[in-house]
Amino acid sequence: MITGRARLAGVIGWPVVHSRSPLLHGTWLAQYGIDGAYVPLSIQPEHFAACVMSLMRMGFAGANVTIPHKEAAFALCDELAPSARRAEAVNTLVFRDGRIVGSNTDGIGFMQNLRAHGVDPSVGPALVLGAGGAARAIGAALLDAGVIVRFCNRTEERATRLAAQIGGLAIGWEARTAALSDHALVINTTSLGMAGRQALDLDLARASVDLTVADIVYVPLETPLLASARAHGLRAVEGLGMLLHQAVPGFAAWFGVTPVVDAELYRVVAGDLLA
Ligand code: ATR
Repeated sequence: MITGRARLAGVIGWPVVHSRSPLLHGTWLAQYGIDGAYVPLSIQPEHFAACVMSLMRMGFAGANVTIPHKEAAFALCDELAPSARRAEAVNTLVFRDGRIVGSNTDGIGFMQNLRAHGVDPSVGPALVLGAGGAARAIGAALLDAGVIVRFCNRTEERATRLAAQIGGLAIGWEARTAALSDHALVINTTSLGMAGRQALDLDLARASVDLTVADIVYVPLETPLLASARAHGLRAVEGLGMLLHQAVPGFAAWFGVTPVVDAELYRVVAGDLLA
C-alpha cells in the first residue's frame, strides 16, 4: 500500500521489460514495509534527458539507469561520484535539491558480492576478461582497492586503451589460459556464456587451486564457466549476486533504509529468472 507521502523511484531503460530491478526493489519495499514504489520506465534514447528532468519535477527520489542510457546519464548529471567518473557511465541517479547526482554502483556491487562469497577482493592479481563498460567499472573498483589488474580482450587494442585510461595492463586474448596461473581472480565481463551465446573458452585445468572464478553473466545463473570452475574444485562467484548488491546504494539513498541481500532475495530473483 502506498500513500500520498510515498517515495518514488524506478529504472529507465529501452527496452526495460527484461529488467529485474522492479522485482528486486519491490521485494525490499515489501520486506521493510516502506511507503514507496519502484517502477519500470520504458524511455526511448531521444527522450532520456526530458524524462529525467520530468521525474525530478514530479518528486521522484531518483532512478536507476540501464542500457542504453548509462552514458547519456553520465553526460546529464550535475554532480558525479568518483565511481561514475571512473566508469564514465552512471547507473544510479539521486535527485538532491534540484540537482542530479550520478554514481556507478556496478564496481561496488561486484566487490560486495565477492565479500559475500568469502573472497577478499584485495587479493590479486585479477584477470579481467573483456573491455566494455562492465570491465571498466569492475577494473576501476579493483584498481582503486589496490589490486593489480590485467585486462584481456578479443580486440586487444580496446584492452590497451582501457588500461591506459584507468590503470592496469593489457594482455593478448590468446594468452588468457596461460595467464591463469599468475592470477588469484579471473572475471568474465564479456557476453560469452549468456543463454544463446557460445561459452567462454577458458581451460581451468592450468589454474592454481586457489583461483576464484567470477562471472557477471546471470542468465543462465550457472554459466558453463562457473560449472567448469566448480568441476575443477575452484571457488565460483555467480553474477546474480552482483546484480543484487549493485542495487543496495540506490535503495538506501531513495528510501532511507540500507537493505540486506539475503537468501530470500536470491530465491525471489532467481525464481523469476528461471520462470
Ligand atoms: P558492455 O559495455 O556491456 O560491458 P560490450 O561493449 O558489448 O559490453 O562488450 C562486450 C564484451 O564481450 C567485449 O569485451 C567483447 O569483445 P570485443 O571488444 O572484442 O568485441 C566481448 N565479446 C563479445 N563476443 C565475444 C566473442 N565471441 N569472443 C570474445 N569476446 C567477445
